[in-house]
Amino acid sequence: MPGALHWWQEGVIYQVLVPSFLDSNGDGIGDLSGLSERLDYLQWLGARAIWLSPIYPSPFADLGYDVMDYCHIAPQYGSLNDFDKLLADVHRRDMKLILDWVPNHTSDEHPWFIDSRSNRESAKRDWYLWHDANADGSPPNNWISVFGGSVWQWDPNTDQYYLHTFHEKQPDLNWRNSDVQAAMFDTMRFWLNRGVDGFRIDALDLLLKDEQFRNNPSNPEYQEGQGPDTQLLPYYTRDQQGVHEIIATMRRVAEEFGDDRLLAGELYLSVEKVMAYYGGEAPELHLPLNMQFSWTPWNAEEIGSSLKTYLHHVPSNGWPSWLLSTHDCLRLAMRCPGDQMRVAAMLLFTLPGTPVHYFGEEIGMRGVPIPADQAIDPQGRRVGRNRDPERTPMQWNTEQHAGFSVHEPWLPIAEDFHTANVAVQSANPRSLLNLYRKLFTFQRETILGQLELVTIQGPLLVYRRMHEREDCLILLNFSNEPQCLDHDASFHASVRLSTFLDREDEHMQASIHLRGNEGLIVFRQ
Ligand code: GLC
Repeated sequence: MPGALHWWQEGVIYQVLVPSFLDSNGDGIGDLSGLSERLDYLQWLGARAIWLSPIYPSPFADLGYDVMDYCHIAPQYGSLNDFDKLLADVHRRDMKLILDWVPNHTSDEHPWFIDSRSNRESAKRDWYLWHDANADGSPPNNWISVFGGSVWQWDPNTDQYYLHTFHEKQPDLNWRNSDVQAAMFDTMRFWLNRGVDGFRIDALDLLLKDEQFRNNPSNPEYQEGQGPDTQLLPYYTRDQQGVHEIIATMRRVAEEFGDDRLLAGELYLSVEKVMAYYGGEAPELHLPLNMQFSWTPWNAEEIGSSLKTYLHHVPSNGWPSWLLSTHDCLRLAMRCPGDQMRVAAMLLFTLPGTPVHYFGEEIGMRGVPIPADQAIDPQGRRVGRNRDPERTPMQWNTEQHAGFSVHEPWLPIAEDFHTANVAVQSANPRSLLNLYRKLFTFQRETILGQLELVTIQGPLLVYRRMHEREDCLILLNFSNEPQCLDHDASFHASVRLSTFLDREDEHMQASIHLRGNEGLIVFRQ
């Protein structure tokens, strides 16, 4: 591991969904000024950096991941002035701010697409992926959209199909066109010039598609209920040749602004493939985000083997990252309920590398059930896996609308907000929130410790972190039965942290006992 650390190696990246964080102007939608008001909280918690979900003008067909203008702020979130103020406030607190950058597709209401679809001779026609129909009028190939149906949408005006990997209001850009590349790199420069500290890059493995648009083969392992696009193997739609050169150029653009601007990319790929995104001779991403934990079943065996495989593959010049939940996956409260949420927190913050934490997990926010016919999320409306439940507003206190807004919020507040909120939990020394706060500190203090997997003993996962004179064991009990790890009589240790926050400094010899659903950090003596 390198000597001097970059800021993104020094602590936790905290993901904020701007519309759900704090509403400062009473319209039921969170905004930039609201976030500014809560920077004290993020600093108190110990966040090193904040990642903002898309804040650009958008018709919001997909939570703003359908961008109309890459160089502006959505009016409901505020203005460029509000943004500059937020950024200055973040920097004054010695924190960093990164933006979500969405290069794979724009909104169909982006001026580029409006021009592109206006006629076949448009100078921007080739900025998107247009294709003739087959002789019988059917779409050019069998590719399936993430939100269901064909990726091809017929445009009766110009008698061609255009490609959309996601919603038909999200046409994919043609990244093989050098003008598209230049225009998109300029949107990066726009924000880097303003002082942002980097980007989380959306859907990066999808950037290029097969030049011949060949059919994807069917997936023999597909099971009913999984995402509709997973019926096919993404041979010709993900991780295509040429994508690495483009990402290396993104990296050079970031480096025009020094060596401290972060590029973190969203990649839904196998561990082996993710590693290539650190770059070869030409560097690419600083953090190809490790999404593996977000779909690994919650048990010691599978989590332990996932972390072992991942760490085994990270190249010596690469820096690991970890992520348990995002705005696209189930809340931890649904996936590892009750006290297992505490075990999940301890897992995420005790691994070597950079953890990415999703807002609200620190107070145990639950997914609010929202029926598909009331879903705002297009995935929820069309293919059933509704992402609205994990996007509901932050619960600040016991006041009306959980202190998020004085107005009815854009998504409902969870019923348990009277207990699951920041005000109540910050006053309780043994709350989940106070556990997280201690873990944020622990994470910062142990960044350089290598990890050694000690054992997976039934539901007990044990690993060791060592650095200079420090030597600690992390024990995670994935079951509600007590567990015990035996050592020999010479073993002495003391508890640094229990997920129940009630065993600090307890001394132990020869064996370590854990209660059901407990996680422990012990220091060897
Ligand atoms: C990413 C985002 C997701 C969005 C999709 C399309 O996967 O995380 O929320 O729907 O890209 O932009």
